[in-house]
Amino acid sequence: MSKELKIAIAGLGTVGTGLIKLINDNADLLKARSGADIRITAVCARDKNKDRGVDLSGYEWFDDASEMAVKADADVFVELIGGTQGIALEATRAALAAGRDVVTANKAMLAFHGTALARLAEDNGCTIGFEAAVAGGIPIVKAMREGLAGNRIERVYGILNGTCNYILSTMEETGRSFEDVLAEAQAEGYAEADPAFDIGGIDAAHKLSLLASLAFGTEVDFGAVSVEGIERIEAGDIAYAREFGYRIKLVGAAQQTTHGIEQRVHPCLVPQSSVIGSVGGVFNAVIVEGDAVGQANFVGRGAGDGPTASAVAADIIDLAKGLRQPVFSVPANSLKPSNPSPMSDHEGAYYLRLQVLDQPGVMAGITVILGEAEVSIDSIIQRSRAPGEPVPIVILTHETREGVMMDAVAQLGKHPAMQEPPRLIRIENF
Ligand SMILES: NC(=O)c1ccc[n+]([C@@H]2O[C@H](COP(=O)([O-])OP(=O)(O)OC[C@H]3O[C@@H](n4cnc5c(N)ncnc54)[C@H](OP(=O)(O)O)[C@@H]3O)[C@@H](O)[C@H]2O)c1
Repeated sequence: MSKELKIAIAGLGTVGTGLIKLINDNADLLKARSGADIRITAVCARDKNKDRGVDLSGYEWFDDASEMAVKADADVFVELIGGTQGIALEATRAALAAGRDVVTANKAMLAFHGTALARLAEDNGCTIGFEAAVAGGIPIVKAMREGLAGNRIERVYGILNGTCNYILSTMEETGRSFEDVLAEAQAEGYAEADPAFDIGGIDAAHKLSLLASLAFGTEVDFGAVSVEGIERIEAGDIAYAREFGYRIKLVGAAQQTTHGIEQRVHPCLVPQSSVIGSVGGVFNAVIVEGDAVGQANFVGRGAGDGPTASAVAADIIDLAKGLRQPVFSVPANSLKPSNPSPMSDHEGAYYLRLQVLDQPGVMAGITVILGEAEVSIDSIIQRSRAPGEPVPIVILTHETREGVMMDAVAQLGKHPAMQEPPRLIRIENF
């Protein structure tokens, strides 16, 4: 008799219905690859009467996800509701406490409660699969937990939010403003009605905190991530970056430094020819640098029903095969503190755009301020206009410490010819 794995799905939105379709469409493949009949037995959402485009008649319906987590006739509880707290967290805890494995796509919940949930899972002899929570369809969790397990990871970075990548790519292609492209992305369904989590970098930061834990064997620490969104990126910055051979991307990066572990999400100039410089539109990219493997690149769709369901299904197949591993690669009790390195210690190069009055001596004054701060200039663009009118001066610096750069920017901001606060964007020569 063939084995059976029974699953209960909480949340029947984009990902939940995508998963039901995938399990139905690929049932033969799932059975061949897992050695088990993967069978949905129970489902839960808010509205029982909503037409979801999938047939739910064969599944037991629950109104309460926490009740389903413990009472459903199921081996695995699949959490696809979302949200940091509330019912998603409550139901996940209930399932784990009952000794049931959990599969989730919920990066927000894991970013805040990942370590505690991993402990709860291990205390109860079960595990949490979260492939879908990071970079959607890209199998990066499995790659880091298994395929790259022999490496000491030095850095993991990438494009972790498709909405931001779509907005920045479209701004570059069309020369249009951030506001204009965001409005279009919302109208076309690429951006949420409330896009704050995406454009503010929070969603990418949730994912980065999980990657950092996998990479460095540390507790998940969302609070340690320095976060800056793309709201202030102007079409002009993108055009200047291009003149210097760069593109602007929202980058998430976690790396081991001599001061601790840096976790940061921010807009960033990256070389056009780099891997992440060439990833456009809604695509995500994750690059892992390990001591043995060197650089390993992963590119794919980071969201959407199909790609996300693909990742959820991979976790379910592992469970059907009996593969159960520590959630963040090492046992939860051996995860180390996150040891954050302050951004003032970040070492890097910078893009600086200054809007100044075109007056004699202004450029000399700017170079003196940078020189006194020991910030050295790599390249400079100055466009002339009529004397006395504001002109942009765009400077790329050589590598320096961020604390030093910030002090220099504060001094530049006080210069009498400065027409608006200096604009600073980090550069990564990946
Ligand atoms: N969408 C993506 O591309 C994507 C990609 C990666 C990860 N994720 C993650 O996947 C999860 C689900 O995302 P989604 O896009 O599928 O969300 P969604 O389309 O908004 O669906 C959410 C589902 O949760 C149900 N729900 C909400 N509150 C509930 C409650 N109190 N009790 C029971 N069910 C409740 C909703 O029920 P009703 O339908 O009845 O309202 C809905 O079916 C989130 O954690 C998200 O971050 C999504």
